[in-house]
Amino acid sequence: MIRPRKFKAKDGRMVVLRSVRWEDLDDLIEFIDSLADEGTDILRTERVTREEEAEWLGRRLARIDKGELIDAVAEVEGKIVANSEVQKRTGLMSHIGDLGIGIKSGYRGIGIGTEIMKTLIEESRHAELRILVLDHFATNKPARALYEKMGFREAGRIPNGICKNGKYIDLIRMVREL
Ligand SMILES: CC(C)(COP(=O)(O)OP(=O)(O)OC[C@H]1O[C@@H](n2cnc3c(N)ncnc32)[C@H](O)[C@@H]1OP(=O)(O)O)[C@@H](O)C(=O)NCCC(=O)NCCS
Repeated sequence: MIRPRKFKAKDGRMVVLRSVRWEDLDDLIEFIDSLADEGTDILRTERVTREEEAEWLGRRLARIDKGELIDAVAEVEGKIVANSEVQKRTGLMSHIGDLGIGIKSGYRGIGIGTEIMKTLIEESRHAELRILVLDHFATNKPARALYEKMGFREAGRIPNGICKNGKYIDLIRMVREL
């Protein structure tokens, strides 16, 4: 579990960063469905059922408890507006973490992504990870800007790695040493 912290976003709203809790279930459904409906550049395209999300959250809480996963959600005015994670790999790659982040429309461009990334990097160091890895769609300019700002560099790409609505998009891999 990460240590909760508060900061003021660029638009003046207060944001709490903390680990997810069981009570966040309904907010998380709303959050993930909003990203799926929007068709933003992420792998998830389908809405979730309450049962699916409850199963997902149960597994996630167990993994956080065991130290297999580092997570941070952002809460604004009592609502979850962002979710993120670093999943630790195992065995000979246990020094590597896979990072993912998503922020709800209406809460982007105000510094939440930057603060979440700082927290994930810090917590990954505490967890003795050495390398963070992530993938983004080549079309996702805001994601690219955030990752470059946070010290990630491109390590490769899969040409046409994504097929979205019949159109092929490169999938870019970025890495950051800790
Ligand atoms: C990508 C995402 C996580 C960025 O988070 P964010 O909170 O909007 O980012 P920030 O406000 O901290 O901005 C970080 C930097 O990105 C850049 N940026 C922000 N919005 C941008 C935009 N619309 N276009 C281009 N660059 C942008 C800025 O350079 C900014 O740096 P600055 O604050 O020094 O000016 C967020 O847009 C998002 O969740 N998008 C939808 C889901 C998604 O794409 N997830 C990532 C999948 S790989």
